[in-house]
Amino acid sequence: MKTIFSGIQPSGTLTIGNYLGAIKQFVELQHDHQCYFCIVDHHAITVPQDPKQLKEHIRSLAALYIASGIDPDKATLFVQSDVSAHTELGWMLQSMTYMGELERMTQFKDKSEGRSAVSSALFTYPALMAADILLYQANIVPVGDDQTQHLEITRDVAERFNNRFGKTFTMPDIKIPQVGARIMSLQEPTKKMSKSDENVRGFISMLDTPKQMEKKIKSAVTDSDGVVAFDQENKPGVSNLLSLYSACTKKTIDEAVAHFANKRYGDFKAEIAETVVQTLTPIQARYEELINSTELDDILVNGNKKAAEVANDTLTKAKKKMGLGK
Ligand code: TYM
Repeated sequence: MKTIFSGIQPSGTLTIGNYLGAIKQFVELQHDHQCYFCIVDHHAITVPQDPKQLKEHIRSLAALYIASGIDPDKATLFVQSDVSAHTELGWMLQSMTYMGELERMTQFKDKSEGRSAVSSALFTYPALMAADILLYQANIVPVGDDQTQHLEITRDVAERFNNRFGKTFTMPDIKIPQVGARIMSLQEPTKKMSKSDENVRGFISMLDTPKQMEKKIKSAVTDSDGVVAFDQENKPGVSNLLSLYSACTKKTIDEAVAHFANKRYGDFKAEIAETVVQTLTPIQARYEELINSTELDDILVNGNKKAAEVANDTLTKAKKKMGLGK
């Protein structure tokens, strides 16, 4: 059975982009893979976080994973900072990652641009992400397409380590969904939808009320030619709504376009809104049951333990190869 690893930052309430690009794939893959799904809180602190809010976001993300359909009997769900092997291997891999490689990362460029105090952890973030993946000897990493560059550097570092010290790590492959790999902002459809967008109308949070979702989709930026067609370059807003619909319903883009042929934008948007509400409402109901339950604590305690066993084993091997320790 192949091994899967993926992670999500607890840096705010997840968007429908996180759901369609990442979690939805996780739920499908858990049935026939050995899965590790992580709440990557060490990654979240690469930009300033309020401690109380961070704690809440960790718990909320755990509840969203489970409410979306992650089955703790099938997949291991855990918190990154509870498994110390991540930061240990992260440091070791930093010693094998070049400044030039890190300087090329578009995520670093985007997140550091215009900021006066940029942490060194934001810069070395890809080495920690490589450690996350390599600790579990993952074969497949399901992510949205914004993580492609991070996967490439992970593979480069793994190969470098294996060549220098002997085969230690499995080479991971990226897995990107066919539709929904990059859901765009509803207000600026040439920009990725992001949970940290200052304009709340740009994203749909997984915990928005149906009214909020409807309002945001109704005010989504489209264009003036009034034709529902998929053309990401010339009609990014309409194409993004079609992608949302297609990813939620599992219809292909062509089927989605055919479905909305001759519909007016108002009707088109109303149906997209209804589809999104239907997708997220059942998840929200389960979330409400979980968020204050002890069931959630048990799942994480168990997950942390299971993840640590596997991670510590790989860490011990890697330390030995590098000549570290007594
Ligand atoms: P993060 O927390 O930004 O996003 C979590 C996952 O959601 C996907 N995603 C999207 N997919 C489609 N459309 C969008 N608008 C959208 N926004 C986000 C992301 O591609 C990701 O799959 N570096 C990672 C976290 C990480 C990780 C790892 C992932 C840390 N270690 C190891 C995989 C393996 C990140 O910041 O994701």
